[in-house]
Amino acid sequence: MKLHASGKIHERIHVAANLAYPAYIIKGDSKNAMIEGGFNLLGPLYLKSVDEILGDRNSLSYIFITHSHYDHLGAVQYLKRHIPRVSVAAHERVGGLLRKESALALMNRLSENQRILFKDIAGDEDLTIRPMDIDLPLAEGDSFDLGGLVCTVLEVPGHTRDSLAFYIPELKALFPGEAAGVPQGLDGNEPQVEFLASYEDYLASLEKMIALTPEMLCIGHGWVLTGTDASEFLRKSYEATFEYRKLIERYLDGADGDVESAIQSIARVEYDEKGTIFQERNAYLTNLAAQVKHIAGLKN
Ligand SMILES: [Fe+2]
Repeated sequence: MKLHASGKIHERIHVAANLAYPAYIIKGDSKNAMIEGGFNLLGPLYLKSVDEILGDRNSLSYIFITHSHYDHLGAVQYLKRHIPRVSVAAHERVGGLLRKESALALMNRLSENQRILFKDIAGDEDLTIRPMDIDLPLAEGDSFDLGGLVCTVLEVPGHTRDSLAFYIPELKALFPGEAAGVPQGLDGNEPQVEFLASYEDYLASLEKMIALTPEMLCIGHGWVLTGTDASEFLRKSYEATFEYRKLIERYLDGADGDVESAIQSIARVEYDEKGTIFQERNAYLTNLAAQVKHIAGLKN
């Protein structure tokens, strides 16, 4: 089954805030966790959801960050300010980036582009992402006992070098962030491929996630897939990765290897003319450019 990432997904899994930038609240018997660090301008909305879902915001023990993009960690500072006891956990590379002024300046610029859309939620709060330390560096195989549920950590590079997925075996629930792509189109049927850091690693990470045969796939934007649709999406995403590489290679050949012109052609045809990709255009272009450059480099 395919669900919008909203409301109650399962007795143990609720969605905080907004369909476009969901964070997943996991309720254990003894501890609660949030997977995804959110989009900074939605900070107050995540906090409101935590209050509503958990009753007591101080019962949130962990925030697990899936990767170092601004829309997946932007709200952690705000949340930490309001829930001082919560432990912020991420790949150690994310910890490095969160101390870098230049990286944070870029993240703040990217999120400010969307302020007009979220001004009612952001209000007058200072939601700027500022340098901070993470509390727990994470690596493959780490696990967190939440009471009746264990949240385990998988390294799934490819979308970014620091991408992590979280897996709860008791629920067969996998939280891949964007490591498995994002469903696109109005009905979410087509996976958008997102190997921004490495094509090979992205495929290897998909293989690793497919091997888990999850029955719940709680994706970093928009959608939750349950039952056989979870594994089906991962397999489709795997196939789509090969196809996307071939598509990029065709455009590169058509442009005689000119990377910039291939990027422009793909954007015009695949984004503008088809109109089925709902990602913000600048974000799409940034991701597309990284992937075309990566494939152009692989070809040489
Ligand atoms: Fe994202």
